Amino acid sequence: MHWLSLAALALVAPSYALIRFPCAQLVIDRLDPLVTPGMIPSPHLHQIVGGNSFNASMDMEKDLPGESTCTTCQFSEDFSNYWTAVLYFKARNGTYKRVPQMANSGFNGVNGGMTIYYMQDGLYNFQQRSKVTAFQPGFRMFIGDDKARTAEDIARFRQLTYTCLKTIDTRDPQFLDFPKEPCPMGIMTALRFPTCWDGKNLDSPDHMAHMAYPESGSFETGGPCPASHPVRMGQLFYEVNWDTRQFNNKADWPEDGSQPFVWSFGDSTGYGNHADYVFGWQDDALQRVLDSPCYVNCPTLKTQGTARMNACTMKNVVPDDLNGWVTELPGGWVAGM
Ligand SMILES: *[C@@H]1O[C@H](CO)[C@@H](O)[C@H](O)[C@H]1NC(C)=O
Ligand SMILES: *[C@@H]1O[C@H](CO)[C@@H](O)[C@H](O)[C@H]1NC(C)=O
Repeated sequence: MHWLSLAALALVAPSYALIRFPCAQLVIDRLDPLVTPGMIPSPHLHQIVGGNSFNASMDMEKDLPGESTCTTCQFSEDFSNYWTAVLYFKARNGTYKRVPQMANSGFNGVNGGMTIYYMQDGLYNFQQRSKVTAFQPGFRMFIGDDKARTAEDIARFRQLTYTCLKTIDTRDPQFLDFPKEPCPMGIMTALRFPTCWDGKNLDSPDHMAHMAYPESGSFETGGPCPASHPVRMGQLFYEVNWDTRQFNNKADWPEDGSQPFVWSFGDSTGYGNHADYVFGWQDDALQRVLDSPCYVNCPTLKTQGTARMNACTMKNVVPDDLNGWVTELPGGWVAGM
């Protein structure tokens, strides 16, 4: 069993909390309230899901559930914001086109966006038993390094990966850089956040120091948290499905044999993969999930249908051309930076 097959999940008796849910696209915009708060435009383009109170400056006191009027997530008490950079294709003539996102396995009809997981134990563990703590209001974090261009640069991040989708259900093997060959059903990026909290700080200057990986082993193997970061949190995990199908003709790929995809911040290696999170669950909804028998779905949560998720959108603040062929990436980036 290498990943969560929905058919297999249906056979699993109620256990403990692992939720997997889609969030449709809220907006694609050049804003980054975590790394460059208040800056309009932010240096590079992002794709964002979650509550519609997202904006350029989200201070710690901002009450996401209170200020949002809708969320793009299936669990309608989740007004968190989840975001990543955006993928582009570079054609032989040097122009770029944005790679659209597509719905994940099991979530047909959801407009773009991504899949979010929160879990108590590793993904392949059907006995989710460990007691974990939910994130608190004001909590935020970042994972990855947009300046990384080699495997050594990201050795300290354990689980930021790419999967070349042969089918919508392919999950392995996973790589740390872009696939070298066309992927028939697109490219999946998977981003797993650290799971040990210092118990005090909702944020830190690099948005990472308040969190740590287990001291030994991994979250999956139940490794203990280090003394500096003693509080074991749920595993937050994103999957993003990039629909590369219109770009899979090898005749359009670079003549030197390299691959044509590039992140919105100029990275054509893939090692710069990174993600952002701002907690925004209503009241104690997330802790209730983590304390109750939930698997994929959760009876303690309110859900909304696909049409309502897709209808929650925001207008772009920064007027970039997001759909045409462009000579440079929004913000002036080019491949290979
Ligand atoms: C962001 O939202 C906050 C509160 O919701 C508001 O005070 C602020 O002016 C907004 N900032 C921008 C740049 O829109
Ligand atoms: C560049 O190449 C793309 C893909 O082949 C094509 O659609 C586009 O029209 C080309 N642009 C120019 C300016 O030639």
